[in-house]
Amino acid sequence: MTDPLSESAIPASQHRLLTAWKALSAHDRPKLAAEVAEVDFELLARLWTQAQTAQSTETVAARMARAGVPRQLVRLSDPDRQSAAPLGEGLLREGRVGVILVAGGQGTRLGFDQPKGLYPISPVRGATLFALFGEQIRELVRRFGRPIPWFVMTSEATHEETVAAFAAENHFGLPSDDVYFFRQGRLPALDRATGEVLLSGPDALALSPDGHGGLIKALQDAGLLEVMATRGLTTLFYHQVDNPLVRIADPTTLGLHVRHRAEVTTKVVAKLNAAEKVGLLADLDGRTEVIEYSDFPAELARETLPDGSLRFWAGNTAIHVFEREFLVRLASGAQELPYHRAIKKIPFWDGTRLVEPDSENALKFERFIFDSLPAANVALVVETDRDDEFTPLKNATGDFSPDHVRRALSARARTWLRDASVSVPDEGAIEIDVRLALSSSDLHGAAIEISSRAGGWWVTGRRP
Ligand code: UD1
Repeated sequence: MTDPLSESAIPASQHRLLTAWKALSAHDRPKLAAEVAEVDFELLARLWTQAQTAQSTETVAARMARAGVPRQLVRLSDPDRQSAAPLGEGLLREGRVGVILVAGGQGTRLGFDQPKGLYPISPVRGATLFALFGEQIRELVRRFGRPIPWFVMTSEATHEETVAAFAAENHFGLPSDDVYFFRQGRLPALDRATGEVLLSGPDALALSPDGHGGLIKALQDAGLLEVMATRGLTTLFYHQVDNPLVRIADPTTLGLHVRHRAEVTTKVVAKLNAAEKVGLLADLDGRTEVIEYSDFPAELARETLPDGSLRFWAGNTAIHVFEREFLVRLASGAQELPYHRAIKKIPFWDGTRLVEPDSENALKFERFIFDSLPAANVALVVETDRDDEFTPLKNATGDFSPDHVRRALSARARTWLRDASVSVPDEGAIEIDVRLALSSSDLHGAAIEISSRAGGWWVTGRRP
């Protein structure tokens, strides 16, 4: 009897996969069959062909030589920025804002074997990243009196634990109907020598998440772009799971986004130094883009202006605001996000055993959400203060490690309190209850209590 799956779903060129398929009994096939059904082999064939074809003759360096400062840029010193806050507050009061959190990454560099959002990061309570985000959203809902639907993108690797953790924490006080979990897609790694898909076991493909650019398809497949429309949302605040300093749906940024009629807005910080691993915002051929740090020539990254500052200074915080209609346009396929290819060392099943390769044997493909920027009619760039909004948790030790991030959270709390003329102990971890303050201005005129807790300082109180 012919096997319908092997004939119809697996292309004849996938010898290794076909052999693995044939080696399985009918009873053992459903898992592999389900994974194969996820794979778009035509897409993989296209990506493989592109990988074989020489890239455009224009080098990145030549292209970058034409790059300039983003045109639609609001600097920190811009006197008009504060007056944008009421516009953003208006959006929140009308219930037009949702939040998108991308939490599908595997956090390999951090060496944490659970979803990164479960990392206990707050300096005094040890609240997780997820809790710090959820508490902010709950406080915004309380203040503005309207629901803020929360769209949480997970992956196969993070989904179950994420959903369970939210349930265990009672969705941080938010109605569970306002929290939407959806999984991003996966792509198999390809053998770099042959273009065939790699297996990770006798009945499994070597699959990994398709990058945060998989957001658009994942939202569409889960019917969530429609949910957003039905719920009257026009504007989505997007951020990554790794930055606990993010100020979710901050009215100033929302307001600037509205005022500039932007389809996407991106927050940037001045790069710490040329080597910092952040994407760069720049204008190229009349369009605003993010150029990923790994693609950016080191020599150009080191170029300075006459005053000694970096020529390419605008670092991507990966905090964006998207118009829902822009996401819908992207989902319609009018502007496809490109795939980025990475050469990796990936263990693979050779038919009898798992082989640990000595060198990079595989190609992985991912899409990046920021590649949508050039498709926007207006892509606004808003500078923000790093100390106030950006210290992501990336590494196990050193810069952007848990210690570094906790210090940044404490330092920000001290600054906020001192700006409000509250005297604070010079030493020790310090954390402000999110219900008291979402920004430094919330502390002005508030009745504040500082108590000792877990070797640090816990700040609560009431606003006037
Ligand atoms: C990322 C940005 C970089 C930016 C920096 C700021 C990319 C390619 N680069 O770098 O421009 O300056 O953050 O901190 O994103 N994620 C998914 N699904 C995936 C892959 C990632 O949800 O398939 C999520 C992760 O959970 C995480 C975020 O995307 O929230 C960032 O991913 P990561 O790969 O750590 O990005 P960086 O290299 O640090």
